[in-house]
Amino acid sequence: MGTEEIIEMTGKYQMANYARSPVAFVRGEGARLFDAEGREYLDFLGGIAVALLGHTHPEVTRAITVQARNLLHASNLFHVPVQSEAARLISEGTIGGKVFLCNSGTEANEAAIKLARKWTADRGKEGAHEFIVLEGSFHGRTYGGLSATGQPKFHKGFEPMLPGFVTIPFGDIAALEDALTERTCAFLFEPIQGENGVRMHPPDYLQEAERICREKGVLFVADEIQTGLGRTGAMLACERFGVAPDIVTLAKGLANGLPLGAVVARDEVAAAFGPGSHGSTFGGNPVCCAAAKVVLETLRSPGFLAEVSRKGDLFRNGLSELATHRTDIRRVRGMGLMLAIEMEVETKEIAQRCLQNGLVVNATSGNVLRFLPPLTVNDGEIRQALVLLRASLPAGGRK
Ligand SMILES: Cc1ncc(COP(=O)(O)O)c(C=O)c1O
Repeated sequence: MGTEEIIEMTGKYQMANYARSPVAFVRGEGARLFDAEGREYLDFLGGIAVALLGHTHPEVTRAITVQARNLLHASNLFHVPVQSEAARLISEGTIGGKVFLCNSGTEANEAAIKLARKWTADRGKEGAHEFIVLEGSFHGRTYGGLSATGQPKFHKGFEPMLPGFVTIPFGDIAALEDALTERTCAFLFEPIQGENGVRMHPPDYLQEAERICREKGVLFVADEIQTGLGRTGAMLACERFGVAPDIVTLAKGLANGLPLGAVVARDEVAAAFGPGSHGSTFGGNPVCCAAAKVVLETLRSPGFLAEVSRKGDLFRNGLSELATHRTDIRRVRGMGLMLAIEMEVETKEIAQRCLQNGLVVNATSGNVLRFLPPLTVNDGEIRQALVLLRASLPAGGRK
């Protein structure tokens, strides 16, 4: 099937809820994608931070093939060894404590919201059900995740949102202090706002926020769905900011492209989920868990995370260098291999031009170009991406 035919079929049979670019990908290998016409692309979006180890990583393919031969699904009414092994690696690699497995980021946030409310209610604080969330945040598309998302554009047409979510300004520690009351259950945040254009908190904001939450007995909940699992050069971005959340949510690259989400909570908090309190038919699917094991073992192999930091610096320096030759790049943002350029102009068309030139990137937040390449990207591919990016930027923005 050619691209045109594929596009036509998508339009005929799938709802139009995605603004899709006119490209159909049929194969991937490492940091490369190939379209239906056989054209090659450098993938600096990685399925929006999903292809952590690159596309069709041989060990992931082997692990999921072996697991598919043994068992696809058994039910969470029983024990499934590969699930417990994945949970052990998630727990050990993050904050310790216990893990709940689900299928996506928004489901992980739903579970975290329920867990935080249940833990708080179990302590006799029935009225403390509110979540403090940040302007510009993105936490998913189901009603819990959507209500927690501090961007009205995502709510439009879907109101009313769930009660109990209080949005405060980004980067304003006094606003957080004021917002925490006897009704507060938790503060939910992304260590770096991803969808909102790789937006970093002011220095020390998260440390201050943690201190205030501890003082007030409010749960400190990190959505590391985009920032976690090595993306910033540490297993969790929270480590890079010197904070230790009570609950962490993960998804995206956890199973390198298969659907798997996780909530990790300190033992004491995790205990609030007793039998029957929460669940999922498919959550912790054995094939997804087999892939997650390879991802987690790779992330903790010696030197892997240091390499992410080194390659992140290489890419960042290249972007900064590019910015010195241009009038239309305001700043470079991000950490590790979660980077972005904030521009003076809208970036949608630039992202399309990148695509035409063979570089997959993402325009977000109006004037931001976001880069989330596989963590296994190599130096040559980073240099090639910089060349393609330079060639895709508007001629008018050169100095
Ligand atoms: C920080 C964050 N939280 C939650 C989500 C929702 O994840 P999913 O699309 O898997 O439901 C995303 C997705 O982009 C995200 O970036």
